[in-house]
Amino acid sequence: MCGIVGYIGKNNCVKYTLDGLKHLEYRGYDSAGIAIQNKNSIKIIKECGKIKELIKSIEKIKLPESNCAIGHTRWATHGKPNKLNAHPIRTNTVTLVHNGVIENHEILKKELENKNYSFKTQTDTEVVSALMDNYYKKDPIKAIEKTITKLEGSYALGILFKDIKDTIFAVAKNSPLIIGIGEDENFLASDIPAFINHTKNYIILEKDEIAILKKDSVKIVNLKGKPIGKKVETVNWNLETTKKNGFSHYMLKEIFEQPEALKRCFNKRLLKTNVNFEFENLPLEKIKTIKKIHIVACGTAMHAGLIGKSIIEKLTKIPVEVEVASEFRYKDPILNADDLVILISQSGETADTLAALKLAKKRKIFTLAIVNVVASSIARQADSVFYTWAGPEFAVASTKAFTVQVAALYLISLNFAKMLKKIKQEELKKYCELLNEMPSIIKKILKLNDEILNYAKIFYKDKNMFFIGRGLDYCLALEGSLKLKEISYIHSEACKAGELKHGTISLIEKNTPVIVVASQNEIFSKTLTNAKEVISRGANVFLICDETAEIDEKNFKHFLKLPKTIDFLAPLYFIVPLQLFAYHVANLKGCNIDKPRNLAKSVTVE
Ligand code: AGP
Ligand code: GLU
Repeated sequence: MCGIVGYIGKNNCVKYTLDGLKHLEYRGYDSAGIAIQNKNSIKIIKECGKIKELIKSIEKIKLPESNCAIGHTRWATHGKPNKLNAHPIRTNTVTLVHNGVIENHEILKKELENKNYSFKTQTDTEVVSALMDNYYKKDPIKAIEKTITKLEGSYALGILFKDIKDTIFAVAKNSPLIIGIGEDENFLASDIPAFINHTKNYIILEKDEIAILKKDSVKIVNLKGKPIGKKVETVNWNLETTKKNGFSHYMLKEIFEQPEALKRCFNKRLLKTNVNFEFENLPLEKIKTIKKIHIVACGTAMHAGLIGKSIIEKLTKIPVEVEVASEFRYKDPILNADDLVILISQSGETADTLAALKLAKKRKIFTLAIVNVVASSIARQADSVFYTWAGPEFAVASTKAFTVQVAALYLISLNFAKMLKKIKQEELKKYCELLNEMPSIIKKILKLNDEILNYAKIFYKDKNMFFIGRGLDYCLALEGSLKLKEISYIHSEACKAGELKHGTISLIEKNTPVIVVASQNEIFSKTLTNAKEVISRGANVFLICDETAEIDEKNFKHFLKLPKTIDFLAPLYFIVPLQLFAYHVANLKGCNIDKPRNLAKSVTVE
């Protein structure tokens, strides 16, 4: 995905646009650019690389005072991440920035070439600016309407017309676009952090709506130009949330925020000995008919889903299938009317997960979304949404969002089990009491940060790493492995501990690092046996277990003992040392932790 920003108002548009882009850099950082509209022209400045490169270029030139600009920080989908393909992109009368993928851009490009249009960039976006230029005959709404009617795929567009001063136009479909409503200034952005320092009031732009932003007005019209009334929402988190608060990286801040994030997720839903919430649009009658649950997600969210499978099946005895969204959407899944599809997504904008949601809805299957970003595309299009309330997560590597996703799955499963009378009051009470202890348990584990740093110092020069575990611990191994590789660039893989001897163990040699996750007491001895199998072949093992585990320290030189609760709830806190381990390894390697290479915070393209 990429980040779009627009500013129109009483202040210096360059400063405000660049400030907004800096807050959206987590969405993509291949290149950045700005288009500044002043009296007679639109000046475009763009650079390859991060926003700081763009700022350096801007500082070298004397820009006239202006109050209207659009900006973009890119995550390339079509065309190399270079200066040529950077946005904003202009075709004659139209200059625009784009988030999304135009799936029929080749066909449209040919049609436009037949109309003597030539193309400078390799992007799909330039087809949009050329098409809009072709349709623009002094009526911007008509030009926009005719353009988007031809487009297939996803787009959020910030648009300037050469001869329409001090006005930004915007339109979006399947990519987020939010309008910040200020005092004598208005903002356009892909996400709220871009303007939260200036206003907390915003409007979400929906499909087939066009926004017209001026300094002192925001008009939303339909494709025929007819005004539409829209509700102005207000952001419910504070300005501090968008800063690092003294942490060296957003990822570390967000790891340490997990106790608070859990409390926000539990708030008003988890009582001392009970769960207490309704599912919107999902009444008991419907829940009673559910025969099978499909959990669909990507990456870390999918790992949370794997844990969710164990939780839901144990508490409700409803069979659960977990699917990667990019597979689910193309496999013609077997879905029955009494199935439930649960989509998990921090950003609520992941293209594959959104497509899976649409497929389920097309099949008339009820969809429940577990989402962090309020009013995101998935949240708005699902039949029912369960917000995780973790607060904004900026680091590309997801941490607190994972923990609250798992917490949400515990709450949802307990509520289903309670409504279906599958759980005794005593058991429900025990689980709720223990869940209420989780924030303080995680706080205790965060105090092991220095010890975990010391272990990271032992392993950070390794080139390959294995994470092993059984059952729920294998799900944690998957997540720990993903955390490590996506920010430290060390190749790692998760392996079911019991599966090692069926092949993977051939890779184990002297000093091969193996992280053993052993939270499940019921099978602890089995996991320990697997750990000894790799030790006997020279592996350098780091064992993570609970404080009651009995281990022979001559075999296990490196181990970390965590507080003991019950096996069933261990995933909620055993993930924390794995997150910290990955963070410290990457930091010791000098990697760009919050913005790892090739990645973006939410992949809103296929
Ligand atoms: C996790 O650290 C990664 N950033 C990535 O796997 C992420 O979980 C995945 O892209 C799904 O994102 P979402 O939760 O916003 O849908
Ligand atoms: N498809 C456009 C490009 O490649 C926008 C990419 C994005 O949204 O990240 O430039």
